[in-house]
This record gives sequence, structure tokens and C-alpha cells, in this order.
Amino acid sequence: MFEGKVVLTGVKPTGTPHLGNYLGAIKPAIQLGAKAVAEGGKHYMFIADYHAINAEKDPLVLNQKLKEIACIYLAFGLDATKSVFFRQSDIPEVHEFTTILYAYTPKGFMNKAHAYKAAVDKNREANKPDDDGINMGLYTYPVLMASDILLYDSSLVPVGKDQVQHVEIARDIAGAINAWYHEPILRLPDAHIEENVAVVPGVDGRKMSKSYGNVIPVFATDAEIKKAIFSIKTDSRAPDEPKDPEEVLVYQIFKAIATPDAVAEMATGLREGKMGYGQAKNMLLDAVLKEVSPFREKYAYYMAHFDEVEAMLQKGAETARPVAKQTLNRLKNIVFGK
Ligand code: ADP
Ligand code: TRP
Repeated sequence: MFEGKVVLTGVKPTGTPHLGNYLGAIKPAIQLGAKAVAEGGKHYMFIADYHAINAEKDPLVLNQKLKEIACIYLAFGLDATKSVFFRQSDIPEVHEFTTILYAYTPKGFMNKAHAYKAAVDKNREANKPDDDGINMGLYTYPVLMASDILLYDSSLVPVGKDQVQHVEIARDIAGAINAWYHEPILRLPDAHIEENVAVVPGVDGRKMSKSYGNVIPVFATDAEIKKAIFSIKTDSRAPDEPKDPEEVLVYQIFKAIATPDAVAEMATGLREGKMGYGQAKNMLLDAVLKEVSPFREKYAYYMAHFDEVEAMLQKGAETARPVAKQTLNRLKNIVFGK
């Protein structure tokens, strides 16, 4: 299925992940990349540090976050000997490519782009002028993202729902260029959304999200993870009262992480009034710790040996850059009639 296909994953260096990020985005992306490579395709995985400077101006913070995100992906099982793992800023060709794309991108695309519109909406809510605090990096964000995608002839781009529109913009720009010159110069990418990945609820029952402060952290101590799990909302029903598992929040979170046998065991226990909330929370704690403990150790290792990670990133850039150069030249030759 992936023969000849290119899967490209881009991540912005943002804060440490929670269980929802891990189960909903990181794990599926790594698995999809590994599957593509196993089936004869390619996987590019890069850290979008140029996108990050739109919002983060402190070099120390930026550097720390970049280190963290690189180590997070490696800890979660990204295999840098199989996936091409690199940093956006090690491929300067992306900017030359972006400048060419500008000439084929209707300004209206940017006005409608999700990241920019969200920033404008936020300003309006705060009674500020529309463009308050909005820089050109944010405004033109989708064009740089289109370059990230198109430079590697990407076929599939795994993204969350909020990024689908940006991938469609990349597709539209590529389509416009191909149509202009009547040649398939750039490959049209598709967004890939994992439909069967559940939205993991947080400890208060809303979607787990750092903005709600309801997360179960992944790279925390046992005690911190335990504290989060024991704060999951429950009602005051007695342990021996039969309960519909689907109405029990601990069970809903458990379903996202545990094996089918363990899930069935908890469902039966709750339904038959043989399992209290405390016991259910302990089962969830065991499942979470079992899943994340090896990752925490690997993460700590990579953070302490970042020179090894840096070497992987440099090796990835060495592989990615010639591909980027080739695509850039292909486009330049057509555009400038060489
Ligand atoms: P947050 O809501 O914590 O700010 P982000 O918006 O940064 O998380 O999401 C990063 C990625 O993690 C996205 O691809 C998103 O779809 C995924 N994700 C975030 N929260 C969840 C969740 N509760 N369940 C499943 N996936 C999630
Ligand atoms: N915009 C993406 C995000 O906010 C990150 C990103 C930058 C990206 N370039 C990309 C994702 C190219 C996929 C492909 O998460």
C-alpha cells in the first residue's frame, strides 16, 4: 500500500505531551511512518523550528523545547535509522522554495487560514485590533508548511483535524503550479487523519487538553501520574453498585490505553458491581505506568546524551537536503525557463 509513497510528519516544538497527545497523535504518526517504511515507502519526520519562532522569541526556551521534542519522538520509538529525522532549519532550500510558492499563492488563502483566523478571533474577543501581535510568519505560515510538504514529494501527511486545511492549501498551491505549466511538477499531498483514534477524555471528563489543565502527563514521576489518575472525576456510588461502564470516566480513559482483555475485565467488574472506583483507578495506573515507563527512561537517556540526538538530526538532514535541492531545482528550471 505504501510502495513509492512518502509519509511526512512535521511537529512544532511545544510543551511536554500528555496521554491524549501520545495516544491521539504521536503514537499513530510513528506507527504510520514505520508501516510506510516496512512496505517500501519513505518516512520523513522533522521538527518545525522555523514555524516555532513565530510564537517563541526566547532562544533558551526554543532550544530546550526543540531538544525535548526530538527526545520525545525518539523515546516513543521513532527509528532514526529508518525514518529521515531532521530539523527544518537545517534545510535552507525551504526558503527559496517558499519564495517561489508565494508567487502562486492567492493572498485570500492566507486570510482564510486557520492559524491566522484563530489569532484574529482571539484579538476580537479581547477587543484588540485584528492584527495585534500577528507577525508575517504567522500570516504566511501555510506557505512555509506547503514547502515542507512539497519539497519531499510527500503523498500522505498525518495531521490533527486543525491542520487539514493547511495541507489542502499545499495541495492547491501545487495544483496551481502544475496547471500553470501543464506538467506534474509537484506531487499533490493528502492529509491523513486517523479516524479510529479515540479522543482521550481528561480527568474532568472534557477532552484531555493542556488548555483545560485536566491532563494525565506522560513524562512525569510515578507519584505525579498517580495523583492525576486519582483525581479522575467519579460519583459517590458504592463499589458494589452495578454501573454502566460507558458512564464511568476511569473506564473511558482505560479503554484508550489497555489491552482488550483488561478492558473487558474492567467492564464486567463495573457492570456486576464487583469493582470500585479505587480499584479501577489502580488498574488504569498500572496500564499507564506499564506503557510509559520504558519511554521515560529512554527520554531521560536522550536528554542527557543530546550529542547522539544531534548526530541523528545531522544525518537526517544529509539525507533530506539533496531531495529538497532536487525538487527546488525542478521547480526553478520550469519557472525560470532553464
Ligand atoms: P492540547 O489540546 O493539549 O493543546 P494540541 O492541540 O497541541 O493538544 O494537540 C496536539 C496533537 O495531539 C493533535 O494532533 C491532537 O489531535 C492530539 N490530541 C490532543 N488532545 C488529544 C486527546 N485528548 N485525545 C486524542 N488526541 C489528542
Ligand atoms: N503546522 C503543524 C502544526 O502546527 C506543524 C507543521 C509544520 C507541519 N510544517 C508541517 C505538519 C508540514 C505537517 C507537515 O502541528
